[in-house]
Amino acid sequence: MSVLAIDAGTTGVTAVVVDPDGSIAAKGYQEFAQHFPQPGWVEHTPEEIWQATLEATREVLTKIDQSTLTGIGITNQRETIVLWDRETLGSPRRAIVWQDRRTAEICERLKADGHEARVSELTGLRLDPYFSGTKLTWIRENEPHTWALVESGRYAIGTVDSYLIARMTRGLHHVTDVSNASRTLLFDLTTGDWSDELCGLFGVPRDALPELVPNWGVIGTTDPRTFCGLSLPIAGLAGDQQSALFGQTCFDAGDSKCTYGTGSFLLTNTGTTIERSDAGLLTTAAWRSPAGETTYALEGAIFVTGAAVQWLRDGLQIVGTAAETAAIAGAVASSEGVVFVPALTGLGAPHWDPHARGTILGITRGTTRGHLVRATLEAIAFEVRDVLETVPQKLASLRVDGGAAANDLLCQVQADQVGVPVERPRIVETTALGAAFLAGLGTGLWGSTEDLRETWQLDRRFEPGARDDRAWARWQQAVERSKGWALL
Ligand code: G3P
Repeated sequence: MSVLAIDAGTTGVTAVVVDPDGSIAAKGYQEFAQHFPQPGWVEHTPEEIWQATLEATREVLTKIDQSTLTGIGITNQRETIVLWDRETLGSPRRAIVWQDRRTAEICERLKADGHEARVSELTGLRLDPYFSGTKLTWIRENEPHTWALVESGRYAIGTVDSYLIARMTRGLHHVTDVSNASRTLLFDLTTGDWSDELCGLFGVPRDALPELVPNWGVIGTTDPRTFCGLSLPIAGLAGDQQSALFGQTCFDAGDSKCTYGTGSFLLTNTGTTIERSDAGLLTTAAWRSPAGETTYALEGAIFVTGAAVQWLRDGLQIVGTAAETAAIAGAVASSEGVVFVPALTGLGAPHWDPHARGTILGITRGTTRGHLVRATLEAIAFEVRDVLETVPQKLASLRVDGGAAANDLLCQVQADQVGVPVERPRIVETTALGAAFLAGLGTGLWGSTEDLRETWQLDRRFEPGARDDRAWARWQQAVERSKGWALL
């Protein structure tokens, strides 16, 4: 018996098969194209996300006995908005990705009109282009022909999970969950439902939005004609960061994790209490049980982490693979004063400046790619420290996961910077693991969260060493200089 989990991330789709002991039996992966039609814009082609999902699934199916599969869990990049035709399942336009900054002006306008306090009160979020609501407003204002078909009911709106479920079930289900809904600016955290007031403010017809379902429990069955011959109960779903919180077995209030993916996301479980932060953290729904109990979290969302390494690889072409950054950075003793603020898509927590842009300072004639690569890894650690400084409860340790958590140098610099031990589990694909856990709870593969907790195993603990506060002070100055750049 095992479960299949699909992690539809920002840069690619991972498919894993998870066994009852919580180990990963097999894995498939497929990257898809990133489109940057204008500076600050980021788009994906929905069909390519779907094809990458099929490709990653086909790969994993070649490595296991598929008769052991009992269900499927889905997790996804959040906030990214997808439109599709309810009949043909084709998309009339590309998805607007969470990193896209095109709605900065719409956010300014809404702020100037005095809406921010009320929006934050209802959603736990802020008026920032990151979230889905203003992306929909932008389509409404700029693509009236497309929007007319949203209003007529022909086009459905969804996050990537909704889209994939629609594709897997040949359009039978149009659903999402609270972890995704709570990132749209259209969801009222307190009532736990879509908000008519917010739909009105952003001009979104409520009927075009997905139905909300619990995070585990069977919600539909994949159609073998479209989904790799598989007829599997879809039994778990969650936005990727909440899924990683679940995958790290952070089930109790106070439990925290940091995932290093395309961005970095630090989440603290706050139990059934909606806690608020005035220091730049977001309040978000973590998951809702089939019995209707919602667990919440505080989140520090950092936009660019793996994306900075990807830029070193694809943009600057100074590294061949992400994996070799540890060796390249380790070959120099320090970054020798080079500071890289990877505000490539503006700054998220705790600064929230959509107009900030990437900044490199301190370059000399002696600067090499080693210094720049090391400065990139240090930036990732500094960004997480910036967020942790705003978290009210002092952590005893920091649980890390995601692709970059495999990088020992990063984990050590992170421990040094945050001053608490960094704990890395044996499995760092925690996002996919969380979706597998949800699906396995939904189908009875695991009986309770206690069973899941027993599967968590430590790989390595990085003890904090000497903390370089001068480097952090330099970093903070560099962050200030990156702010507002797109406005100049
Ligand atoms: O909020 C954006 C987040 O969901 C993207 O996650 O894993 O693609 O960096 P990831």
